[in-house]
Amino acid sequence: MNKAKRAAIIAGNWKMNKTPSETTALINEMKPLVADADCKVVLCVPFVDIAAAVDAAKGSNIEIGAENVHFKESGAYTGEISAKMLVESGVKYVVVGHSERRQYFGETDQTVNLRTLAAVNAGLTAIVCVGETLEQRELGYTETLLKYQTKMALTNITKEQLKNIVIAYEPVWAIGTGVTATAEQADEGNGYVRAAIAEAYGEDVAETVTIQYGGSMNAKNCDELVAKVNVDGGLIGGASLKAEDFSVIVKAASK
Ligand code: 13P
Repeated sequence: MNKAKRAAIIAGNWKMNKTPSETTALINEMKPLVADADCKVVLCVPFVDIAAAVDAAKGSNIEIGAENVHFKESGAYTGEISAKMLVESGVKYVVVGHSERRQYFGETDQTVNLRTLAAVNAGLTAIVCVGETLEQRELGYTETLLKYQTKMALTNITKEQLKNIVIAYEPVWAIGTGVTATAEQADEGNGYVRAAIAEAYGEDVAETVTIQYGGSMNAKNCDELVAKVNVDGGLIGGASLKAEDFSVIVKAASK
């Protein structure tokens, strides 16, 4: 394993938090704190905050992402946002298949795959989320499920397109619960994802894919998590809403 072959990315996922004016204030607070980062720094924000976020992040090392994208190019899909709209708005990344969307909004492995394709075809980098529930873990399905979700999400994605894909392993039981996976569990889960990519695209390709960990990552536990060989940064919920905490995580991934 060679971490030097892939970029570490610390990405915030703000979820349904922050108004446009709050977005401007938080990014202005974060900018000086993460300016020296030796990893990629991304903030995925609600659709209505994108314009404020892109404006506030201009000239800094912070890149802006969205939290979802529709899989059709355009048409009668009231309330939806296309990849082209995101690109023109200055968005570079998009979260796809977050467990909250799978759980509350009927997202399936098929729609996750379609959204991933739409994102990369438009030139975005997709941060594709996979993860098991506590019940699935206790039944011993973690490896099978992570490999299945990963391969389903990557259906019809070429080796070339894979360069614009990041996978985030987010155990559902660790999201917003304060229960973090141990560094060993995170490394193991990320390892299953990498093994699935190796099975589909070969070892050499799998070594180059950024695989993040997400789930209650914070300023206190980040060092141990990002030090693991398979953990190439993190997807951060709650702690990405606090400039100081987020910057500590960015610093941990920059070591
Ligand atoms: P928390 O960091 O709040 O647990 O959220 C993780 C997450 O879901 C990021 O996408």
